Order: sequence, then C-alpha cells, then structure tokens
Amino acid sequence: MCGIVAYFGKKEAQPILIEGLRRLEYRGYDSAGVALLKDGAFDLYKISGRIANLEGIVPEPSSPATVGIGHTRWATHGKPTTPNAHPHIDCTGKIAVVHNGIIENYAILKKWLIQEGCTFKSETDTEVVANLIGYFYEKNLSRDGQNTPQRNNRFEWAVQQALNEIHGTYGLAILCLDCPDIMIGVKNGSPLILGVGENEFIIASDTSAIIEHTSQAVYLSDGEMVCIRKDGFTTKTITDKEVQKELKEIEISLDQIELEGFDHYMQKEIAEQPQVLETCLNGRVDVKNGRVVLGGIQDQLRDLTRTKRVILAACGTAWHAGLVGEFLFEQLARIPAEVEYASEFRYRNPVIDEGALFIAISQSGETADTLAAVEQAKERGATVLGVVNVVGSTIARTTDAGVYLRVGPEIGVASTKAFTAQVAVLTMLAIELGRRRHLSADIAQALLKELTEIPKKVEHILTQNEQIKQIAQANIDKDNWLFLGRGLNYPVALEGALKLKEISYIHAEGLPAAEMKHGPIALITDEMPTVFIATQCSQYEKIIGNIEEVRARGGKTIVVATEGDEHIKQYADHLITVPDTVEQLQPLLTVVPLQMLAYHAAVLRGHDVDKPRNLAKSVTVE
Ligand code: M6R
Repeated sequence: MCGIVAYFGKKEAQPILIEGLRRLEYRGYDSAGVALLKDGAFDLYKISGRIANLEGIVPEPSSPATVGIGHTRWATHGKPTTPNAHPHIDCTGKIAVVHNGIIENYAILKKWLIQEGCTFKSETDTEVVANLIGYFYEKNLSRDGQNTPQRNNRFEWAVQQALNEIHGTYGLAILCLDCPDIMIGVKNGSPLILGVGENEFIIASDTSAIIEHTSQAVYLSDGEMVCIRKDGFTTKTITDKEVQKELKEIEISLDQIELEGFDHYMQKEIAEQPQVLETCLNGRVDVKNGRVVLGGIQDQLRDLTRTKRVILAACGTAWHAGLVGEFLFEQLARIPAEVEYASEFRYRNPVIDEGALFIAISQSGETADTLAAVEQAKERGATVLGVVNVVGSTIARTTDAGVYLRVGPEIGVASTKAFTAQVAVLTMLAIELGRRRHLSADIAQALLKELTEIPKKVEHILTQNEQIKQIAQANIDKDNWLFLGRGLNYPVALEGALKLKEISYIHAEGLPAAEMKHGPIALITDEMPTVFIATQCSQYEKIIGNIEEVRARGGKTIVVATEGDEHIKQYADHLITVPDTVEQLQPLLTVVPLQMLAYHAAVLRGHDVDKPRNLAKSVTVE
C-alpha cells in the first residue's frame, strides 16, 4: 500500500530511486514520483500511472543529485492524479515528504493550517504532514509556545513537533532544503527499513529496494525515527529518547526477487511451490516419532497443550488458509477453533477467554487489520502467535512468538506460495497440538509421512500446465464462475474464486457445494462454468450428487479429481487431476490447479497479472 524509497549517499540518487520504486511497485502502482535535492532546490518529477511513466519524465542523462526521495502510490485520499502523487512539498517549498499510511486527523489539521496561512495543491493527507513540518520549521516555536528548538537540530525538532499533532499510520522519508546534509525517516504502523551501506543509506518500505546496495539493515519500530547525516545515523523515538538499534543481515537475495525467465512473478511463485514447501517443512517434521518441531514456538507449545480455544485471524487468502486451519485444529487436536476476518474481529468487542490461543496469519506481516486484531488479542490476554512470511515484519515482531513460512519474497499481488505454506504450517501446528493431547503416534506418523510427499505431488500437478491453459481458453468468454467444494476443499473453492476475481476480473463465487441448492443454483446455465473440487474423500459421493444437480440444469463443469478416478470422468466437461493424498492434506494439492487456471485466464484476457487493477500487495490501511 504505497512504497517509499529514499537515498542519501555519494552516488546519483535518481537511478537508485527509480530501480527501488520498480521493486516496490507491487505495493501500489497508480502514480509515482521522485524529489531530488540539488544546489539548494528540489527537482520534482511526478506523474499518474506506473513507474514506466515516471521513467519517461525524469532527466536523461540522470541528475547528479546524490540525495532524493521516491514514492509509488496506492490511492487512499484523493484520486490517482499527478497533483496527488508524492513527493509532496510544503507551501514554503522547503520540506519534501513521501508517505505510506493514513493520517486520520488530516482534515482538522488541514483546516487549522489553512487558517494559519498554508496553501495546498493536492487532496492528500500527506500534504498536511509536509505543511505541518514546514509550519513548525518556519515558526520555530511549538504550538503551545513553550518550546523552541536548539539551533543545530531545527529540522529534526520540527518533524517531532509535527508528529506530536498527527494521529494515524506513517512510514515517512523527509528532506529539508536548508539542511541538505540530513535525511529523516520515521515509522509508525507502516513498515520502514534503513539500509546501511558504505557511505550511503537507503530508507525503504521493504528490503527488496535495498538488497542491491547493501545486506545490512536497521528495522525501525513504531514510534521511532532515524536521522541520517554524512557521518552516520542516529535513532531515537519520536519523543526524543535515544534508542540503540542493531544492524541486521537482510535475509533475501537478489535472485529471489528477479523474474528469472518467467513471464510473471505469479507464474514463478506457483512454480516455486514444490521447492518452498520443501523448505517450509525442512527440519520441522519428525516422521519417525510422529512429532513436529517448530523452533519459534517451542516454549509456548508446552503451555498451549491446555488451550481451550483457538482463534485464527487473517484477511483474504490468508483467511482461507485460516479456514483450513480451523478444520484441522478441530479434527486433529480436538480444540474448538474459529477463523475470524481480522477487520471484523477488531470492532466486535470479542470475547477472548483466558488461555485462548490467537493465531495471526499474514504473508506480508504488515496487514493493518490483522495487526490491529493482534494488538487487541494481546491486550485481552491471549497467547498470540504469528504465521508470517516476511521476516522482521511488524506482525512478526508484535506477536509473542511465531512460525515463519520460509517461502522467500512473494511479489505477485495474487498470493499463491504463501497460501500453501500457511496451510502447511497450520497443519504441522494442528498435528503437534494433537500429539500433545490425544492424537496417536500412528496417525501423526502417517500424516507427517504424507506431508513430506506433498512437494513432489505439487511438482507433478505443475506438469498439467498446458491442459489447464486449454481449459482456461475454452471458458475465457464466460463472465461468471462458481467454485464449489465440501469439507476441507470448501476453503479451496473460496481461494479459487478469489484468485480468478482478483487477476482476471471475472466474477466468481466460492461456496460449500451443498449450499448451492439453497439459492445459487438459480444462477446455473451453460454460460456459467462451475468448478468442483471432487477428490476422493469422506464426502465424495455427496459432491458427485452436487455435480449431477448442476449438470441436470445444463451447467458446464470443470472438475478437480483424484488421479485414477475413472468414475468421475462422466461428470466432467473438463477434468484436472491431482495425486491421491489423505483428506486432511488435500487443500495443499487441490489449490494448485486453481491458481494455474486463474493465471492463464488473466493472461488470456490480457491483464497485468502481477499488478491487477485497484489492488496492492500489502494492505497497510484499514
Ligand atoms: O499479507 P497478508 O497475507 O496479510 O495479506 C492478506 C490479503 O490482503 C491477501 O491475501 C490478499 O487477499 C491477496 N491479494 C490474495 O491473493
């Protein structure tokens, strides 16, 4: 949800900022801009649309400026127009700001600033931040008239005064014309990382914009700011208390964020699943003893044996993984479990009993709704675990303990490999909690043995690529699809529908197959493909019945079935098969062909698969 990058060093800032923005473009891509600080002036370039548009308006050859800030936007306040694009410069012309987050009280501050004589050029909340800093910088006196800055840190002081007034979330990079030797970064509720190189510093929303220049980083916490000067940097709280931060090694490598011959990141990430699932399971599964070792939560697990209730909270795809988790915690560990939409949970004044286990699931670890639910669960005394992909992300750091997905960076906006890894982690957790209660070693051993076979089986599904593409092609003119599944394949139906919607813009609905007869069956015509997930499982006969109901009404079916199932062929207009596995692990396989189907549908429809319209990868606003 917006990406920011800022450079302070000895090299030309412009190409570094543009490349950084390209890497962050998955976070938002409706407008972009850079401000370069050179010879006592800001050179400002901004434009609506993609980074490619920005590349068309920046100087060629590149500006010699060695300091600058850049932004790629996902609009919240104000349309994605050029005036609303960041950076924003205050009305004195001295302060330039890029911002990721939302300033909740911007309207009231804007009104006050206008009364004080400030003028505005955009509809954004961010311009209020720029003007507020500019106001304190110029006025040189705090709002209550009690406080004046020391002469040598007026810029820093003005930033702190402004932040005193602001409610909301922000990752900010800020420059001041009078202080070309200083760059300030601030974090509160939105991610912000400082890359520390040799004589150069890069502030960015995530490490992908940093890794090309340095592998050393400082992860700021909420309420902290960094002040970069030529001779180094200092970190402190917004309230001016010094804090010592550790330099950490960035864990991703450059090749992980390159396309490496694939046409799209989504295609690459689908194809990576066998290998990343292997990494996710590696060292965690002890088949011989029927146990799971999850290093990050080993201490908590001892106490969690007595857990009376599991609450899972997440959004979007991660919520679908949570729904699989809900079924597995109940089936395998016999603990009441419920998955919650994080956005709803936080406003419901939920009952969280003592001893509840709260599990937040998030690829990015930055989703605002999930983070707020985590904070609420913590306040109410639950043990809070994270199932997160991005190492060092806000949710990972806010939870009591957690399990990382280990799938590497997921860049495609449509989540794929994170889903299968989330399901794998929740499966391991459910088995281990089950083992600590009553699940027999024999059953756990059989499940874990089968779990280790999953990566190979996913690999096998990927070989059906051409056939799945043809199924997408055969149905590409259909504008409404249904996805139906029962039991553990119901969450997969939801996920299949979400994938199709978000990248191919085809309307799709996922439902429990048996619910269809309570209303949605009225939609069935030969113009509406219905995707059934009908693998060999306890509800196989039932779902065959549901397929018959659709076919009896002239509906066309795409059926995901178990390899070798001859019987099902008669019910399928199009058949996709997955290798056999135990029922509890089927979502790990059945979701893969649906990811591929959505991918091909989007490509065939000519959409930008990795950057679907209106979306952004991490939703760091409510
Ligand atoms: O980073 P998170 O897992 O917390 O993100 C949650 C959702 O925003 C995300 O899964 C979204 O639904 C994806 N675009 C789905 O492909």
